[in-house]
Amino acid sequence: MNILLGITGSIAAYKSASLASSLIKKGHKVKTVMTGGACEFITPLTFKSLTGQRVYIDSFSVEYDRSHTSLSAWGDIMIVAPLTANSAAKMAAGIANNLLLSVILDFTGPIFLAPAMHEDMWNNKATVNNFSVLRDRGIYIYNPEEGALAGLKTGVGRMVSPEKIIAKTRDILKKDYPELLKAEKR
Ligand SMILES: Cc1cc2nc3c(=O)[nH]c(=O)nc-3n(C[C@H](O)[C@H](O)[C@H](O)COP(=O)(O)O)c2cc1C
Repeated sequence: MNILLGITGSIAAYKSASLASSLIKKGHKVKTVMTGGACEFITPLTFKSLTGQRVYIDSFSVEYDRSHTSLSAWGDIMIVAPLTANSAAKMAAGIANNLLLSVILDFTGPIFLAPAMHEDMWNNKATVNNFSVLRDRGIYIYNPEEGALAGLKTGVGRMVSPEKIIAKTRDILKKDYPELLKAEKR
């Protein structure tokens, strides 16, 4: 499959490197789209090296050819991991003020989200409402789990593991989009 991997500005962004690596090992093609915030946590070079593809960040680069529309047309599925409270709120409102959000808004295939944030952000009524809006739109959401959070706190907010993201996505595709799995390597 052609997989669009979105990464936002969470401390969990380092886990996306292992996600990208596992997807590549399974024979998928991965193009990474990062927010400016994500680049504060992990470098685009990591994903360029792991995926063998250029990494997309800026909406207005002269090097991109119709960037958001050509990216969204390329992808079979889109996974955003980790997803911040901020980007989830923008998605819920249909805001597209960076490349990742523009690709998400333009993308018509299945979207899978793995939020990561502190427990209080996750439980905030604004966030609860935003994820309910996204769920109602048919977007698949892997709720964060309980565990150690940044700042030595524990609570619900930890991004699900890359292994779980891959397994859950596969199960959903098998059921809802079997045609997309036909060419997958075992
Ligand atoms: C050290 C640090 C860790 C952060 N971790 C998270 C996080 O896990 N989840 C989250 O929603 N926001 C987190 N934030 C806040 C986001 O980075 C901030 O809301 C940012 O505007 C997100 O931008 P983006 O959604 O465009 O990537 C963190 C900020 C800092 C400084």
